[in-house]
Amino acid sequence: MILITGATGNVGRIAVERLAGEDRKVRALSRNPERTQWPTGVEAVAGDLTDPASLTEALAGIESVFLFAVPEAGPGFVAAAQEAGVRHVVLLSSGAIDDTTEVQDGAIAAYHFAVEQELRASTIDWTFLRCEVFATNCLQWSHQTKHGDEIRGAFADAAGTPIHEADIADVAVAALTSQDHTGKIYHLTGPESLTHADQARIIGEVLGRHLRYVEIPAEQVRRQLAPFVPAPVLDDILRVWERSVTVPRPVTGGVEAVSGHAARDFRTWVRDHADAF
Ligand SMILES: NC(=O)c1ccc[n+]([C@@H]2O[C@H](COP(=O)([O-])OP(=O)(O)OC[C@H]3O[C@@H](n4cnc5c(N)ncnc54)[C@H](OP(=O)(O)O)[C@@H]3O)[C@@H](O)[C@H]2O)c1
Repeated sequence: MILITGATGNVGRIAVERLAGEDRKVRALSRNPERTQWPTGVEAVAGDLTDPASLTEALAGIESVFLFAVPEAGPGFVAAAQEAGVRHVVLLSSGAIDDTTEVQDGAIAAYHFAVEQELRASTIDWTFLRCEVFATNCLQWSHQTKHGDEIRGAFADAAGTPIHEADIADVAVAALTSQDHTGKIYHLTGPESLTHADQARIIGEVLGRHLRYVEIPAEQVRRQLAPFVPAPVLDDILRVWERSVTVPRPVTGGVEAVSGHAARDFRTWVRDHADAF
């Protein structure tokens, strides 16, 4: 039996659908499972990753887990999974992790690295999916595209490699259903390096509109996002964007190597989410 955590999220939801479609025994974790219509055959279970005592039912009889890294939830979850006899954890981790240091640069790398370290120290086999920026991050622009043709944000020339959440789910399913991926670290990206300005233009092209990314000062963006994003994470995001103006993040072949198919491009992602914009 496979447990998918973050099962109502971007990646977990697709992983649940894929596994159910393959007639695998799958259990889906949510803090409120009754709010979701689950695919046929999926066992939905309530639990909170920050409260190990709430995970007893979720972990009973589980061999493999797809783990969504909630900050601070690592030690409790790993101990509970080990106690329950879990054999393998596939962790949704971060491409920001630097293997050359124990002290990670920034909050995002640090909390994912902490969960990786907990798993390495356990008796559980692991696979780390170190993902670069999710294309779904662009959904934060949707309230702007619904009201005009300008997307106002920081660092128009920040270059990322946006990855389609379906590709992460495909890799996760491959790693969860084969013995070949234990002890492996996969760096996952989309197939192309695109600046914020490129992404805005492509969204416009797919929608048949002339969308422009208008750069505004990073400090203004910090003030706008402060009520929604924790300060250390916001600092990290703005720093990564600034750095990527001059040093773009590299494209990897991780998705294709594990899933067997090419990574979906950004245009495909926009088509799949056109209604949102
Ligand atoms: N966005 C990026 O660019 C990026 C890049 C690399 C890595 N990541 C990592 O990817 C993960 C986000 O993945 P995603 O986009 O698929 O997730 P998501 O859409 O944000 O959804 C995550 C799901 O996790 C569940 N969840 C949240 N807190 C929980 C808790 N305490 N206990 C149990 N479940 C909890 C929620 O489901 P319920 O409400 O149903 O419980 C939620 O639907 C994060 O760990 C992030 O750091 C993101």
